[in-house]
This record gives sequence, C-alpha cells and structure tokens, in this order.
Amino acid sequence: MNEQRNGRAVSALWESTVPKYPCLLHGADYYPEQWLGHPDILKRDVELMREAGINCVSLGIFAWSSLEPEEGVYTFDWMTEAVDRLYGAGIRVILATPSGARPAWLAEKYPEVLRVSDSLARAAFGGRHNHCYTSPVYREKVRQIDQRLAARFGGHPGVILWHISNEFGGECFCPLCRAAFREWLKRKYGSLEKLNEQWYTSFWSHRYTKWEQIDPPLRNGETRLHALNLDWKRFVTDQTLDFYRREAETVKSAAPDVPVTTNMIGPKSNLNYHKFRDSVDVVAWDSYPLWHRGAEEDIREAQKTAFAHDTMRSIKRKPFLLMESTPSTANWMEVSKLKRPGMHMLSSLQAAAHGSNSVQYFQWRQSRGACEKFHSAVVDHSGRSDTMIFRDVREVGKRLEALDKAGLSRTEVRPEAALLFDWENRWALRDAQGPRRSGIHYDETVLSFHRAFWELGVPVDVPDMESGLTGYKLIAAPMLYLCRAGIQDKLKDFVRAGGTLLGTYWSGVVNENDLCFLGDTPGGITELFGIRREGIDALYDGQYNRLLIDGKACPPLKREYRIAELCELDCCEGASVLAGYGDDFYRGRPALTVHSYGKGRAYYLAARTEYAFLRDFIALLIKRAGVRKSLDAQLPDGVTAERRTGPEKDFIFVQNFNAFPAKVALNASFRDAENGVAYEKTLPLSGYEVKILEEDHPG
Ligand code: GAL
Repeated sequence: MNEQRNGRAVSALWESTVPKYPCLLHGADYYPEQWLGHPDILKRDVELMREAGINCVSLGIFAWSSLEPEEGVYTFDWMTEAVDRLYGAGIRVILATPSGARPAWLAEKYPEVLRVSDSLARAAFGGRHNHCYTSPVYREKVRQIDQRLAARFGGHPGVILWHISNEFGGECFCPLCRAAFREWLKRKYGSLEKLNEQWYTSFWSHRYTKWEQIDPPLRNGETRLHALNLDWKRFVTDQTLDFYRREAETVKSAAPDVPVTTNMIGPKSNLNYHKFRDSVDVVAWDSYPLWHRGAEEDIREAQKTAFAHDTMRSIKRKPFLLMESTPSTANWMEVSKLKRPGMHMLSSLQAAAHGSNSVQYFQWRQSRGACEKFHSAVVDHSGRSDTMIFRDVREVGKRLEALDKAGLSRTEVRPEAALLFDWENRWALRDAQGPRRSGIHYDETVLSFHRAFWELGVPVDVPDMESGLTGYKLIAAPMLYLCRAGIQDKLKDFVRAGGTLLGTYWSGVVNENDLCFLGDTPGGITELFGIRREGIDALYDGQYNRLLIDGKACPPLKREYRIAELCELDCCEGASVLAGYGDDFYRGRPALTVHSYGKGRAYYLAARTEYAFLRDFIALLIKRAGVRKSLDAQLPDGVTAERRTGPEKDFIFVQNFNAFPAKVALNASFRDAENGVAYEKTLPLSGYEVKILEEDHPG
C-alpha cells in the first residue's frame, strides 16, 4: 500500500531520494589521505568498518592538496583505490567536493581567494571554511576539480551522494564581495531612490547618491541602518547558495543520477538554510550536543537537539541525514566528557526518531596530528576494535540494520503542529534597539515553545515564513516581529480554514525591510487576532507581573502565572479576554485573548510568561485542536516520544534522557518493534534507554 502525501508515495520517498542505496546509513567521515603511507591501516580500515556495521563513508572532504598537489596536476588514484576497496566490501561512498579547505599553492598564487574580515583585513593562508564565495578564481579552480571528480567517480556504483564542500558559513568583505553586494542591491531595488526609501536613509543624513558609496556593515562603518544589515545577511546567504549551486551543477552535469547535499550546522548558522530548500536533494546536518553537564542540562540539551532536528527536517519536510555526530567527545568542547553508557545509542536514535535516515560520525579514524587529534573517532590511536567507543558504534550499527529491515527508512515524521521560526526575523530582532536591548530572547522563546511540544511528545515541524503551512491543525508563531513572504495572509488562510493559531507579543511590527508598519499593529493581522497594540512595556531582570486567568478553572491551566521581560498593552477589537495582567498600572488589561476567525481561532499572548504557562496552555490547545501525540500517555520528566509514520505501520521512539530508570503508563498495549515484546500497561525504560514501539495501521 502506498500512502499519498503531497502527491508523493510515502514508501517511495527515500527510494527516490537516494536511489542507489535507499537504506538507513551508518557511516563516518573517512580520511584515507592522512594514511597513504600506511597501506596496512587502509586495509584494516575496511575490515574494521564491516565489524562496526558501517555501510557508507564520506570521502574527500578536505582532500584538495592530495587530489591536486600542484596546480593542474591531479592525483586521483589513491581515491579510486579507496572507492573500489570500500565498494568491494559493500561500503558505499558519499563523495565530497574539496572546496572546504584550499591548498597552499592556491592561496599563494591567487590571494583573492582568501577571505577579508569586516575590518578589511585579508586572512593569511591557514585554517579552513574561510574562502571568498565571490572570487571568480576560487570558483573556477573549484569547478575544475569538481568536474574532474564527477567525471571520474560520478558513475561509480559505490558513489551514492555528493557532499558539497563542508559546513558553508561566514562572510567575506573583500572588494569582489562588496561589488557583488552592490549588484545584488541593484537587482533588488532597481534604483537608488527606492533603496534610499526602503533603507530609510533620510535618517542621520545617510542618503546615498552613488551605488559605489554603499558598503556592507563594516566594523568602522555603517551599522545603524537595519535594512542594510538585513540585506547584507540575505546577500551572504544568496552568495553562498550561488557558490553551492555552481558546485552542485558541476557534479550533476557529469552524474545527473547522484543526488546532492551539503552538511549544515543547524539553526545556529548565520545562513538562512530554508533558501537551500530547492537546491539540495536531501537535507544533511552535523549535530554536536554537549552531554553530561548535569541532569537538568541533559534534558535541556536533548530538547534543544530535538528542536534542531525538527528545524532541519522542516526545510524539505522530508527525511534528512545526520551527516556528522561524535562517537563520544569533541576536542573543541570546553570539557571533553565521555558519553556515558547508553548515551551514544540514545542520541543516535534521537536523530532517527526525528526523521534522520542516517547516523554518521566525525570521524572514522582519529587523526594523528593537528588540532583534531583528540576528537573521538570510531577507531582511536590504538587501532583496536575492543574499545568502549567501537562497541557503542557497533551496537548502533546492529540496531540500524534491524530497523532498516523493519522498514524504518520508508517512514517519515508527519506533524500536525508547527512552530514558526524564521532566520530573517531572528536577524531583525537581534539588531533592533528596543524594547529590550538587554535581551530580546527570540531564540529562547521559540525554544521554550518547542519544549512544550517535546515534553508532551507531540511531533512538531519548524517552518519559516516562506514555507508552506498546509496540513497543520495548530501553529504556534511567537514574536512575528518582521513579517515577510505574505505570512499575514498565510496565517489568515490557515485560521479561516479552521486552524488554531497561537501568536504573541511583538508581532507585526516591521515589514521585510525593517520599516515599521504605520497605522494599527500588529500590522496586517489586527483583524485576525481581533486586537490592537497600544504599546509595549519592558521589565528589568528580576521584575515581574502576573497573568491571571479569567472565569472558571480550565485544567490544566492554573489561576496565575508569572510574567517577565515583555508586557504588551493591547486593546480588544473583537477578541475575548482569557487572562489579564495582575499588577502595575495596566492591571486588568488583556494578557491573553482569543478571536474566532472564519472556522478557526486565533489566540494572542500579550506577555512573556514563565514556561509553566506555555506548557499548560499548549497542552490545552493541542487537545482542543485534536493534534495527535506520538504516544497517548503521560510522559515522565526527561522522557519524550516521537513517531515516524509509514505506509503499513508507525514506529514510536520512546526516549529517556534521564540517567535513571523511568516508567511510562500506557493507555493502550504496544509491541516492541525490535523484539516483539508486548507492553500492556507500563513501558519500563532504563537510564538513557530508547525503546521503539510499533503500531499497525488499522485495516
Ligand atoms: C565539524 C566539521 C568536521 C570536524 C568536526 C569536529 O563541524 O565539519 O570537519 O571538524 O566538526 O567536531
């Protein structure tokens, strides 16, 4: 049976994404170029990979100087041998383009490839991830090597996916980038007049009379025009994307059947990853949570990681790849604490629970020198397989293999709830001066909304303002400060058609170029929420107000919650008041309202409350909107559940992020997807355990 979703058959989803090898991937970044003088080690690597249940590796990520030691001299034989040797052992290859780090000869001969900082200082040779994205020389040199790699390896049966560069990011202020920025602005605005108007340059006499006068936000230059700052960040994403696309086109032109991806770094990136939506065949990202700082910290870290997985999955609303994770510690962590027994399995399967069809590591074999020599690896300096880390990895491999056989790769996470998080909104909110320069806390707010879904075990997508919003019953949209991409109309359509929306304070403030809406606000959505903003009060740290629920008790809501940081003063224009402020000169004014709009309801939270309110209120909305939980059960603290839906059956990952055992009281009986054990009333979990339940579809 093939279930349809957005016109795609679910069971065919992964088969069409990675057609050459559509199974769950278990692999690692592999650097044979570091061991070319040790043929015994290279041979042993393949044996050890099989022992660890590794079925694919990422190859060539930083191998440029081994592939082209001198300009125009290509030495691909070692890579051919590696790909053949791996394929012969049944191990597939994700082949990287080497543009993430350049050889010394390239930097020496063409200094324009080196990045320039916002103080206009050009970098010297060294490091990685620091090339100019505009430089025609760099682009051309990358094209030449990519094209050769694609011609040589694109048709190899073992090469299943292209890995473009490595962790794109950062910015360059060189003359080439600055000129490209001006061209980008000309395309966007058409005329200086329009730009001056949208950037509000009449302020402080900042009017531009020539395009050449415009510079990006340089450290000692113009940083106070918020629209300029925003456009620069947009340009940096676009320019990076353009660089990526050229690489993707180059490899695809030689090997059209091999899909492309690039490894992203999650929501913390300076790039707006949603812009990559149509240019990657599959989203891939590198996840490095910091475990074991404390019991409560582990739970927060788990939820933060879940948010990151949800955000990355939502870029394409499809399964994604965990491209890198550490087998245990990372050298760059302040304190490199070993993963406690169970944590490696739990954090690996957490990614799978949220829609990853892979668990990949940085790195296969620990490097012998340079700055990553103490980063953990599947194989450490001892070269042995009877180590703690190797055993942990092998266990993950075994479990993934069994889950693959059980059909996990043909399932996907399909949330009925969404939490809006928008990169451009984040940029604008962080830049804005007021109403709380000491901390506007957009990211923290979005995370605390996400926490409520995570604790309740409700799958949630994290779309941005440009994403489609179809298929959801409930959307939470905190702090929609900057409104773009027609988000107001999309939200109106959503509610009109019967959806439940939760909006908050400090929404509908500026347009896409950071110009304040004139007239009533929240701009474009006053009629949706049935309220009008009169002002916003900011509180110092340590100052509080109270949110008092009106009328009769409505479990699980309590009568009163604490408010901190931001209190918006709204007037009702059609909305009904559900809660009011308890203190200060605005005591009694609305703090929470609801407005019927079309067939749906739009709730507006005027103040930043303590987390307990979000937890209780979101629980209520989930119930009212009929949003399905992953598991119909009350989940203990630190335990969550996530569901992957397939054509015949669903998998429910129940994860315990506590170091101690937990018990989940079940409302129905379930079968363990891995060993068939039946759980009637209680599901016991040991510390850091993840159990996977299965549920057949009725009929
Ligand atoms: C990643 C990077 C890898 C490696 C790893 C170490 O960000 O892509 O090459 O450096 O970090 O944790």
